[in-house]
Formats: sequence, C-alpha cells, structure tokens
Amino acid sequence: MAPMNPPYPACPLDLEDSPLVDAYRRQTPQSAKLAKRARQIFPSGITHDARHIQPHGIFVTHAHGSRKWDVDGNQYVDYSGGHGALLLGHNHPAVTQAVLAQVGRGIHFGASHESEIQWAEIIQQLIPCAQGVRFNNSGTEATMLALRLARAFTGQENIIRFHGHFHGWHDYVIGGFNAHHDGTPPRGVPQGTAKTMIHLPPNDLDAVASILNASSDVAAMILEPTGSTWGQVPLQPEFLAGLRKLATETGTLLIFDEVISGFRCSKGGAQEAYGVTPDMATLGKIVSGGMPGAAVVGRRDILAGMDFRHMAADGREKIFHMGTFNAVPTACVAGIAALKIVRDTDVCQQAIDYGNTLIEELNDLFTTVGVCWIAYGTFGGFHVFLNPNQITTCRAEIESGIHDYQTLKAPVNPSLMMKLRLGMLLHGVDIQGWPGAPVSAAHTNRDRRQTVDAFGKTIQLLRKEQALA
Ligand SMILES: Cc1ncc(COP(=O)(O)O)c(C=O)c1O
Repeated sequence: MAPMNPPYPACPLDLEDSPLVDAYRRQTPQSAKLAKRARQIFPSGITHDARHIQPHGIFVTHAHGSRKWDVDGNQYVDYSGGHGALLLGHNHPAVTQAVLAQVGRGIHFGASHESEIQWAEIIQQLIPCAQGVRFNNSGTEATMLALRLARAFTGQENIIRFHGHFHGWHDYVIGGFNAHHDGTPPRGVPQGTAKTMIHLPPNDLDAVASILNASSDVAAMILEPTGSTWGQVPLQPEFLAGLRKLATETGTLLIFDEVISGFRCSKGGAQEAYGVTPDMATLGKIVSGGMPGAAVVGRRDILAGMDFRHMAADGREKIFHMGTFNAVPTACVAGIAALKIVRDTDVCQQAIDYGNTLIEELNDLFTTVGVCWIAYGTFGGFHVFLNPNQITTCRAEIESGIHDYQTLKAPVNPSLMMKLRLGMLLHGVDIQGWPGAPVSAAHTNRDRRQTVDAFGKTIQLLRKEQALA
C-alpha cells in the first residue's frame, strides 16, 4: 500500500513573519514568555502533539461554559473542549460539584467503591454492546486492552486496522494513523509488533473479505465507526453493516473505537446511531465527564478473560489488567454526573444541531467570499476541507463517504493551516489544527456568530498577505 505523501506529517517550522503572525505575537506576549520557558523543558514546549502551534500556543488561565481565557486576558470561544471530552462545556455545575464533594471524601481508596458500579451501570444502560465493563485511564489504554482481549479470546494475533483511523498512541496502533499505511513500523515501534497489524483502506469490503477468507489468523478489526479522525474521512453507510456480517461469518471480533463517538453521535454512541453492534467498544473522554478515565465494554464472554474464577474453571491463564488509577472515585463521580445528563436530556442533539447550523453558515460564508473550502461533519463537530487541489464536490458528497483519505487529508500548505489557526485565535476563536473541532452543548448562537465572523475576517487577512487566492 502506498504511503501518504508526504510520508510524515508536515510541520510548519518555516512559518515566516507576516502581518498576521506579528499581530498574533502582539496579542499574546505573556503566552510567548511562557512558551519560551516551556521550550527549555518540554520537547517543542508542549505536552501533547496536537498543541503544537507556531510561533507559540496560548497559555490558558481558566475556562467556563464554551469559553476560555489566556494569560494575556484574551477571551476565546473554545473548540478544543478538552480534546473532545467536554460535551457539556467547561465546569458544568453538576460535574464540578460531584468532583468537589468527592475530593472531600477521598480521592483514592485503592479499593472497590459503589460509585464505580453506578458509573458502569449507566454505561450499560446507554451503550448497546456493554454487557460487561472494565475501566482504565485513557483511550490509548482502552484500545490496548481491547486488542489484548481480542487476541486472547480468539487465540489469533493479527488485527485489521484502517488507513488514517486513530486509536491512541500505543505501539500497535500508531502506525497507519498519519503515516506508515504500508505497515512499516514508526520509529520506536518493534518490527514484530507492527507485523501483527494489517492495514486496509476504509470502505473496501472486498479487501476485508479477501483477508478474512484467505486466513483464519485475524483476531479482530478495529475502527472509528464515524470514519477516520472524528469523521474527517466519513465511511459509506453500508461499510459498518458489511464489517459486522463478515466478522460474524468468520468468527472475527469487531471493535468500535468510540472514544470520540461514544455519547457524541447519540446517547448510545455510533453503534446506536448506525444500528450496528460491535463485539467490543472503547470509550473515553466524555465517559468520565472530562476527568481522566476510559473503558472497554463488550461481550461478557470476551471480558471473562479477565475473571479469576472463570479462567480458573476454564483452565486457561487469566488476562492481567492493573492500573493504579482505574476507576478513581473522582473520575467515577464526574462520569456519573455527565452521563446522567447525557441520558436524561438532549445534550447530544444540542451539540449535533449546533454543529450542523455552524457548518451551513460556514459554507454560506465560503461561497459568498469565493473560497473553495467546504465545511462538513455530522456528529457534534465540524471539519473544514481546505480543498488544496480544488476538486468539485460538496458537503453532502463528502458526508456520503465517497472520498478517500488521500483526497480529504490531501497535504495542505502547512503555513496556510497554521496562519488560519492564528487568524482564528486573533479573532477570539480556538479551533483545532486539521482544521475542525468538536462542539459542545454549551455553545451558543453568539459563539456561532463569532466563529463565522472570525472565519470571514481570517480569510480577509490571509488574502491580504497572499497566503490564500
Ligand atoms: C478515536 C480515538 N481513539 C483513541 C484515542 C486516544 O485517547 P487518549 O488520548 O485518551 O489516549 C483518541 C483520542 O483522541 C481518539 O480520538
């Protein structure tokens, strides 16, 4: 399989000074100072690759609802939303009060407690495949555990994954996200580990069938059920049902990575929205109300691989799974508070509706000002296709899943992407780099107007300095 071109994601280290960049520097002098200090100690001055901004990112002091403030006193409409964890916005009173009350009762018992059961019971009520639940601390840990469970259950080693789909940063799944679609190991990943992963293009059921029918050494298939990177490359509607059928026919396990889509697509995640039930799913972010937490959920017979009594009776080795912070009480109570709101109100739909209206208004703007960009997205978030090769397409076509990742993730001038992000920050809006963002139920009409206005003003600035035609 040909690797993406360029093979490694481009980094705008060469961001030249320009009126837009200078204006950003003038607006964020205290952030610049902190960035300088951070660069003395952190690689690139950051603690998460997605926070890499040139010439420097903003340093935030506090946040509330849909907004956050930086050390220079600038206020932003926030579209990072805790990397997608904050469906309810910042500091939702129910979540905050639950956490504060728990802090007073103890933050870690190193023992079982009732709130972990309550948390799991709500998850079970909401997520169709959740016959059993096991908590851990991050989406990365959840996908790692799901793959181990699948391998143990089936006795097979290989896993099918799909080009561009993100499942965290552990050794099995990091290859094939934004590079190494040919299965070669990324630096630091052992060859033997990479060899157990089979990389296939999404939407190609024939490719999946030919692998599954040719060999029985595949334990599972894992994918983002809304398409790669939060639905940036949407799937065709029949793909999920097709995978389900192939998995059942061949005894292969189907794992939905719902770290993003869980509680964002619908109360029951993508599996409820599409009516396709996987054998296991991974949940993160929203599941723990913005506190660190995640879960593997799925068939009871698969999760039984971790059960002491069951495995002893079965005469097979138990699958080990520890984790100092698994189901810590603060995460449990935040998760319970957040998921009760998801269950009992229409917050999922509110975020979906907000995203949908924002997308429509952005597309109106792009048409009016004459750029060939296209906004799209279906589940509580938006993406902006910067259309570097100026293809003729539209929102509906993109969302139908007819474009592949080479089209929708085609390399864009990195300097344009960075300047777009800086321009939005200059106008008080923090979007994510691809560009796009998750939205929350806390975003308001005022936020939406400011966002569309910021895009309009940023496009003007980009044109002024010839970064955009
Ligand atoms: C679909 C998906 N899976 C897994 C992960 C990894 O989760 P975490 O960052 O909590 O390790 C993410 C993170 O964005 C994700 O979007």
